[in-house]
Amino acid sequence: MKTKYDFDQIIDRKNTNSVKIDSLQQVFGSDELLSLWVADMDFLSPIEITEALKKRVEHGIFGYVKSDEGYYNSIINWLKKKHNWSVKKDTVTFLPGVVKGIAFAIDVFTDVQDKIIIQPPVYPPFKNITEGLDREIINNPLIFENGQYRMDFDNLREIAKRDCKMLILCNPHNPAGRVWTKEELSELAEICFDNQILVVSDEIHSDLALFNYKHVPFATVSAKAAQNNLTLMAPSKTFNIAGIVSSFAVVENDELRKKYFNYLNARHLGKGNIFAYLATQYAYEYGEDWLDQVLDYIQQNIDYVDNYLQQNIPQIKAIIPEASFLIWLDCRELNLSQKDLENLFIQKAKLALNSGTMFGVEGKGFMRLNVGCPQSTLHKALDNLKKAVNL
Ligand SMILES: Cc1ncc(COP(=O)(O)O)c(C=O)c1O
Repeated sequence: MKTKYDFDQIIDRKNTNSVKIDSLQQVFGSDELLSLWVADMDFLSPIEITEALKKRVEHGIFGYVKSDEGYYNSIINWLKKKHNWSVKKDTVTFLPGVVKGIAFAIDVFTDVQDKIIIQPPVYPPFKNITEGLDREIINNPLIFENGQYRMDFDNLREIAKRDCKMLILCNPHNPAGRVWTKEELSELAEICFDNQILVVSDEIHSDLALFNYKHVPFATVSAKAAQNNLTLMAPSKTFNIAGIVSSFAVVENDELRKKYFNYLNARHLGKGNIFAYLATQYAYEYGEDWLDQVLDYIQQNIDYVDNYLQQNIPQIKAIIPEASFLIWLDCRELNLSQKDLENLFIQKAKLALNSGTMFGVEGKGFMRLNVGCPQSTLHKALDNLKKAVNL
């Protein structure tokens, strides 16, 4: 019989070293906030993953482990079933995290001072790791028009001429919530291929497409895309297992793969820990039913937030995400400086959200809300926010 999950259940995450919960004091200056920032969910993971891990823990010996056929097959079958993407085993490697995987790609395929394109507002580590590795960021900001984001291909064509070496794509996009279409990805692929700009596609949110949107893996849109790409994925966002640290890359081009895999192998970076392979395999083999239920719940949460804002705080608008559990809130009609906007959320409403400017200057006037939580948490958060706005 299928398990019916209860996502309304409130689970205390305090004192678990959770970044989202146990860093509130350090980051926001108070422990007494509702935590709606870091992108993990306040839900229990699929029971099959927990049971498999428990069994492994009970065995009591935690020696070295290897990846086996079961691990690779679970990934291959998942990509085929979920994204209609046929990949071969030898094109897949374990990665100890998607962000690290991007950093490794920067190391392998670019040199210090090289130019790397990102499309803000975007997940902050894209900029941080690039600059941390002494590469130059070239921004191709997304265009926000009629309540929706799109890529600026005219600008991309211009900056592509400036000897850029790499573009880091966020597909689907965090925080804009876009599930890029085949047409959009094909155009991007064409421009990048023609200008010898390697596309590193971060597809960590790919399994979380909502409202009948369908994720399109970048590598599947054209031959130019497949041959000029590294795709990084993980079961971490999908099944709420980010702390287990298990991601993977798919690299179809032989030459790129050889370089990337050699780099990983030489440094022993392509090996997972005892829980990583196991959790990944169980997630992909047994987690689909949980995923369907959690996506349903997230959609309800998004609808709830959208309706509440329209009826009670119309100055704040929810950009409805096409994927994932993060809502980008357009707060510009409040006419506050970013500092005052942050104060409104933190000091007055007692809410911890990511400030829009973390994602680039393009995020000014925005806040990012994590709705991967029981709906009662959102009720409380929005009531607090309504009171704070009307103070
Ligand atoms: C777009 C994107 N990439 C990567 C990550 C983190 O990936 P990892 O924990 O595997 O480094 C996140 C987490 O929020 C994300 O939103």
